[in-house]
Amino acid sequence: MDCCIVSALWYFLVFYLLFHFLCFIFADADFTLLWASLVGHRPETKLKGLVVWITGASSGIGEELAYQLARCGSRLILSARREDELNRVKRCCLEQSNLQDEDIFVLPLDLLERASHEEKMKTAIQHFGHVDILINNGGRSQRSLFLETNVDVYQALMELNFLGTVSITKQVLPHMTKRGTGSIVTVSSVVGLAGAPLGTGYSASKHALQGFFNSLRTELTDYPELLISTVCPGPVQSQIVHNAFTEELNKPVATAGNQEYKMPTSRCVHLMLVGIANGIKEMWIAKQPFLLFNYAWQYTPTIAWFITNILGKKRVQNFKAGMDADSSYFTKPKTS
Ligand SMILES: NC(=O)c1ccc[n+]([C@@H]2O[C@H](COP(=O)([O-])OP(=O)(O)OC[C@H]3O[C@@H](n4cnc5c(N)ncnc54)[C@H](OP(=O)(O)O)[C@@H]3O)[C@@H](O)[C@H]2O)c1
Repeated sequence: MDCCIVSALWYFLVFYLLFHFLCFIFADADFTLLWASLVGHRPETKLKGLVVWITGASSGIGEELAYQLARCGSRLILSARREDELNRVKRCCLEQSNLQDEDIFVLPLDLLERASHEEKMKTAIQHFGHVDILINNGGRSQRSLFLETNVDVYQALMELNFLGTVSITKQVLPHMTKRGTGSIVTVSSVVGLAGAPLGTGYSASKHALQGFFNSLRTELTDYPELLISTVCPGPVQSQIVHNAFTEELNKPVATAGNQEYKMPTSRCVHLMLVGIANGIKEMWIAKQPFLLFNYAWQYTPTIAWFITNILGKKRVQNFKAGMDADSSYFTKPKTS
């Protein structure tokens, strides 16, 4: 009998280590998330009928979240600044789901206009009565070297990515604590955990979010049904590079470059929804080598510095050659 238990434990250990090793090399998500995607709750069953408020729903990850959630049968509040784009997203949601017009509420909102957020929350509550899930997704990135960047850009990044998110959370959370249930999911980034060149301010704003939500979670231990989750994606196909801040506040990015090599938006969003459906507190979602890079930062910082220096140098070279900074780490940048 004892012998059986010992062999079972050995088998379990070997399986566990093998699974981790395969994840290190091949996976596009961390162990917990990958495990949940194999054996956990399915988003279609867990998220059906829930009211989900998405910021940054007019493009990229937020837009895809709206489509996949609509197909799951979630009711949606779509927010961003561009109302026409939100209406387009709403029409597409209705086309590809069984939702009715009243199930999707377009609520234009500027994350920078914090004084308006209380009113926006009241409007959302008037429409649906409550919010089950807030997905803090709206934000902008950065493509510029610190030595060449105006400090105003740093202020703008913190105001938008950090304070804008804190402000909406401040409005939504009291309703969730009152009901004793709900989820606040925030899209951070791989650079919310690690560092990388060309995004000093962006990385700082995402680190701020990580610190904020990790601390907030510890204040909410009396609410076991309340999920505070952060999502740390690597490069994902979207408009993020095109919309990034540069050296000056109103200077556009010269060229967004080819985005095709990045993780498809649909895959990233599918994994996010698996994570939400399974109550995962932190999700790492990235194609290799970015996922490996996350593990290195978490478990072996000395090796991480070594890898970061190599990848970082290449990133700056790509940027200076006029390509997307992440376009190729292992081949020579093509300038024409
Ligand atoms: N794509 C990636 O590689 C990647 C990787 C890691 C993390 N992320 C994070 O994922 C999130 C979504 O980005 P994305 O990749 O989907 O980029 P995106 O396509 O540029 O979408 C950004 C969204 O944010 C909204 N937004 C920007 N400024 C806003 C403001 N002042 N008020 C309200 N909404 C605002 C935009 O809508 P309007 O312009 O209509 O306001 C848009 O819907 C961001 O938080 C980003 O940091 C992205």
